[in-house]
Amino acid sequence: MSASQHVFEPSVFAHRRRQLAALVGDRPILLMGHRLVPRNYLANPLPFRQDSTFLYFLGIEEPCAAAIIGVGGHTTLYLPARTAQDALWHGERPTLDDMAALCGAQEARPVSDLAAGPYLTLPLAESGGNTHAARLVGRPLDPADPTGTGDRDLLDAVVSLRLCRDEDEILAMRWALFATKEAHVVAMEATRPGVTDSAIQALMEGVFALHGMPTAYPSIVTARGEVLHGHATGAPLQRGELLLVDAGAEGPHGYASDITRTWPVSGTFTPRQRDVYAAVLAANEAAIELVRPGVAYKDVHLCAARVLAQALVDWGLLRGDVDGLVEQGAHAVFFPHGVGHLLGLDVHDLELFGDAALYPGDRVRSEQFGLGYLRLDRDLEAGMVVTIEPGLYLVPAILRDQALRERLGDSVEWVVAEQWVGLGGVRIEDDVLVTEDGFDVLSEAIPKSIEEIEEIVGSGLPPRDRLAPAEAKCRAPGVGSP
Ligand code: GLY
Ligand code: MN
Ligand code: MN
Repeated sequence: MSASQHVFEPSVFAHRRRQLAALVGDRPILLMGHRLVPRNYLANPLPFRQDSTFLYFLGIEEPCAAAIIGVGGHTTLYLPARTAQDALWHGERPTLDDMAALCGAQEARPVSDLAAGPYLTLPLAESGGNTHAARLVGRPLDPADPTGTGDRDLLDAVVSLRLCRDEDEILAMRWALFATKEAHVVAMEATRPGVTDSAIQALMEGVFALHGMPTAYPSIVTARGEVLHGHATGAPLQRGELLLVDAGAEGPHGYASDITRTWPVSGTFTPRQRDVYAAVLAANEAAIELVRPGVAYKDVHLCAARVLAQALVDWGLLRGDVDGLVEQGAHAVFFPHGVGHLLGLDVHDLELFGDAALYPGDRVRSEQFGLGYLRLDRDLEAGMVVTIEPGLYLVPAILRDQALRERLGDSVEWVVAEQWVGLGGVRIEDDVLVTEDGFDVLSEAIPKSIEEIEEIVGSGLPPRDRLAPAEAKCRAPGVGSP
């Protein structure tokens, strides 16, 4: 089934809107959808992606949609009028009434009927929709400052509903992860010296496409894993390199998966690569073990940091007591990002709403290098899905950073660290559901042990010979549902 097909019942969306209306005391709400964004000229747009809050409450993936939610969740859906010219170029679309039925709205009207009003609303990332919403509510909406220009009560209500996943949403995420697992295994099997990073990426995204799914975010497929958001360049992979692959499919209704695996191009880790991989895996597993309701996500981050700091001390890259090193942020020279983030309709879920959503109450983002990149500082709740993605990187620019060198001084063995440059980066990322009494690793089927990886890498056909068997695999009986 294509990920773009409607699989949730209309009552799911109607129920969410009733909850939202109740949370804001039945004040009228405007939810605006995204417009198409041109690639170069208007008729040549980028692939469309709906605003995630609109998707959550309406499930409608058509551009230029809007909705007014009133008392008791009564909903009027607004969509572009259906015209003969539109049907000529794009085919006949479902009627407005059909679309209203899909999302359980009480009525549907052409978007040209949408009138200004004193609505609660929130900023959008897409500027055309944002400008339209701002005009209707008569005040500016700034996605960079959602609490300053949106409505705080609406933001809090939306965040409280979007924070935790129900069973339908978890199924959609499992579905995305099924395609993501296929893609990672196919990529491992196809890897060998001489194959390009972009061929591996094409193979993976071909597998997503065979499942009817787009990528949830731009894939990272690179032997320069120390460039955190680096991308494939077409470079042939070399024996001795590590390939870092951070790629995930977007499943039904827009639910993301987000998975990183790192493997040796040759199929066998060098002794140093093996040590680093084992340390990152130990950090990943120790952090996952901590996941349960009531635990602060920041403590999960600090747990991963301590495991990595201990390894860095053992190798002679850090010097001192582990707790002191982590408090000082010395580990961040090698583990500079946070342990992960919320995962849902956005790959960094709710990040559009900034720290108003992700650092609630009086929690304040650290100014320390490393900890300041922690994307979430909330206590975990059952139903949240978070990523757990520790990594170790040798980043020349960070090792040369004078301010860091002065602040951290002897805690880092800078000269020894320079000798490790060239290792690149290792990250291992899983998607983890917080359950009532612990955790469920939704991505546990994606190989990550050293033994599994060494067995799989290079064991299959190279990329150009590979897509046809991958297609056959995706269409095998039982595949297509989780
Ligand atoms: N794929 C982006 C991230 O892991 O946060
Ligand atoms: Mn992630
Ligand atoms: Mn990722």
